[in-house]
Amino acid sequence: MQVTMEQAELLILAAGGRETELAAAIEEVGAKAVCSLAVEELVFRCRLPSNKTHVHVRLDLLHGGERFTHTIGVQAGRPVTLVEGEPDTAIFLLEFELAELVRSLYGPLRERRPGTHRSRLLVERPTAKALYDGPLRGDWYSVGRAVDTVLSGCSAGPSDLGELSVRHGTDKWGTWHWYTPHYERHLRALRGEPVRLLEIGIGGYDDPGLGGWSLKMWKAYFPRGLMTGLDVFAKHGLDEPRLRTVRGDQNDPGFLRAFGEEHGPFDVIVDDGSHVNEHILTSFEALFRYVRPGGFYIIEDIWTAYCTKFGGDESPVSPPTTSIGMLQALLDKLHYQERPGEAGDDIAQSVVGVHVYHNIAFIEKGHNAEGGIAPAVSQLFESSPSTPR
Ligand SMILES: C[S@@+](CC[C@H](N)C(=O)[O-])C[C@H]1O[C@@H](n2cnc3c(N)ncnc32)[C@H](O)[C@@H]1O
Repeated sequence: MQVTMEQAELLILAAGGRETELAAAIEEVGAKAVCSLAVEELVFRCRLPSNKTHVHVRLDLLHGGERFTHTIGVQAGRPVTLVEGEPDTAIFLLEFELAELVRSLYGPLRERRPGTHRSRLLVERPTAKALYDGPLRGDWYSVGRAVDTVLSGCSAGPSDLGELSVRHGTDKWGTWHWYTPHYERHLRALRGEPVRLLEIGIGGYDDPGLGGWSLKMWKAYFPRGLMTGLDVFAKHGLDEPRLRTVRGDQNDPGFLRAFGEEHGPFDVIVDDGSHVNEHILTSFEALFRYVRPGGFYIIEDIWTAYCTKFGGDESPVSPPTTSIGMLQALLDKLHYQERPGEAGDDIAQSVVGVHVYHNIAFIEKGHNAEGGIAPAVSQLFESSPSTPR
């Protein structure tokens, strides 16, 4: 039973509120569904295990007199997994109040706190013989390491976007692209917020089971965020808690408008789709209105502005039909208030920054209405700056 995006958002917002709000949200979604969501989230966030011997850790969640039992498999070299059923193989028990775990996972980001759980070794009589004859063969370091790995899943996890990019298999850092430091510079302040992010281009092209790498990277980077992926191919098999996919063409303005009305607004939109210049312009013109003030619209791979195969142009100054040409025109829009008689269109009135780096651009949204200097100064000086009126 999967929790919907709306239910996940309800829990995330309640986890930042009062105890009564969180209790009401758990009641509304249902304790069993919240347990599944929390355990899936915890498993997703766990760092890679370092224990030599395979260890099963039992994770019990308590709510309203009920106990929900899960078993987590932890082994070096493999991502942590949720073990099906309730096998009697766990060697260690971690016990959380459900609301406490939901708050740790989805509440405001905090350092790891002591006293969030109860724990117990699940060995009847831990004599030296039992310890050395048992499946661990005395490798008790593996138990501590496995428990630490499971507990790592209860916090926000790593904030190094380069590491997360490599872990989840997207190419935003290393090999081809070197984008993640730019992303961190602009998005770090949003990390602890209940961010809504849209990425155009889920990955994997026409293979329905392939892709979603960057969406998972974003899901890990924004532990309180909701991720939406848009792709011209159907990718619904990749849907999971806090991550949904939608099928649609980024070059279809009618579709994009309907999509924005249904799923927007967003704090962050990333265009990593076809990289065809016409498509980049269509998407920006249709979707920039669905970025919240304080948010960013990001365009990757703007090198295609110079590549004719992507509708780019090799001339020394890029024409306005390319992404680079559009970004150059945005500098004039950003300064519309300095041009006498210029009212500024919707985009001009809401661009407050254009940050361009090698192959990637960040367009910052806000209210661009501070007032112009140039028209006021022209009134002060009759003919030249040396003769004030
Ligand atoms: C470079 S991949 C995205 C990789 C992904 N963002 C990542 O980093 O893991 C580009 C994706 O854009 C999709 N795409 C191509 N043309 C598109 C269009 N017109 N509208 C929407 N998506 C499109 C492709 O199907 C492909 O899956």
